[in-house]
Amino acid sequence: MRKANVVIAGAPGLVGLQIARVLEDHRDLLPLGKVRLVASGRSAGQELSLLGRAYPVEALGEDAFEDMDFAFFATPNDVSAKYAPIAAAAGAVAIDKSSFFRMQEEIPLVVPEVNPGAITSQTKIIASPNCSTIQLVMALAPLERAVGIERVLVSTYQSVSGSGREALEGLEAEAQAYAGGEEIPPQAYAQPIHMNVLAQCDSFLPDGFTKEERKLRLETRKILSRPSLRIAATAARVPVRISHSEAVTVELRHPLKADEARRLLAAQPGVRVVDDPDQGLYPTARMAEGIDDVLVGRVREDPDEPSVLHLFVVADNLRKGAATNAVQIAEAIWQSRQ
Ligand SMILES: NC(=O)c1ccc[n+]([C@@H]2O[C@H](COP(=O)([O-])OP(=O)(O)OC[C@H]3O[C@@H](n4cnc5c(N)ncnc54)[C@H](OP(=O)(O)O)[C@@H]3O)[C@@H](O)[C@H]2O)c1
Repeated sequence: MRKANVVIAGAPGLVGLQIARVLEDHRDLLPLGKVRLVASGRSAGQELSLLGRAYPVEALGEDAFEDMDFAFFATPNDVSAKYAPIAAAAGAVAIDKSSFFRMQEEIPLVVPEVNPGAITSQTKIIASPNCSTIQLVMALAPLERAVGIERVLVSTYQSVSGSGREALEGLEAEAQAYAGGEEIPPQAYAQPIHMNVLAQCDSFLPDGFTKEERKLRLETRKILSRPSLRIAATAARVPVRISHSEAVTVELRHPLKADEARRLLAAQPGVRVVDDPDQGLYPTARMAEGIDDVLVGRVREDPDEPSVLHLFVVADNLRKGAATNAVQIAEAIWQSRQ
């Protein structure tokens, strides 16, 4: 069987490193041929290991995509914007983790368990959604299919790794300074993140929402093919290293018992129900760290509205929220071509 040649742009970053780990874990689903790791000039010359081999990190250039089947972009928007079309023109399928292409009409925005049909044989650039959106739609999709959704309200508790390597280093620096009885200026955010909760993820928009809150709204609508779905978000950053948590209120078209919702959620590939309050069991950030599943628990019927349910949804933002979803897109395309 032919093997897939892959290039990872932004390989030493938090998402890029995780793409390499997921490719190792999923090697039976996507057998790897040639591998190239590229990044900015800052990391060129480093070595990273993949499947027991050391690969050099090269500076990203236009020649990185020759003879590649897949180009994963774990890079800032401007880098993806410039190089994804170059990768596509060279014959690779570009799978982008940045937000640059996501809302462009002709670009599929894909969570493979939810809307795999958005990928066609013509697709050359595919956007992978925002981390907080991926875990949300994984929990909403089975409810939407079974009874239909009228409205969604979501509050997020997002980890610092969602802002990249420098933000995570900033949290560690703040924590170290604090332990030594000092305060240092905030490293990656407008205010200190250590021992704090910031009601801000990304920058503010004129309507008072943040860009992260807008992404949750617009990307969910696009993935579920519900362009006028009523949905609003409040996104907060918390001093957790990995995994985003979300409190989700869903108004359905018809009443649905919590037990039936748990059954529907458990049947959704990629979702695991963790909901045993008597045993103190519900999804946590640390429980989700390092795994691909989206964890859902605290499923409750609203005390006033029979068609409203409340859920708690947690996932590793670097795995299903980023790397795993991107690799699964490549796997779906690879399998469709065999
Ligand atoms: N973190 C998450 O949970 C998450 C989730 C979903 C989507 N995303 C998105 O995924 C992308 C990567 O995020 P991250 O968290 O991995 O960020 P990160 O840790 O800061 O890593 C960014 C990577 O991009 C590379 N890069 C920056 N400028 C470049 C340039 N001019 N040419 C080539 N490479 C360049 C960096 O190279 P060097 O190593 O050389 O510095 C680094 O490897 C971003 O668009 C982010 O919004 C992140």
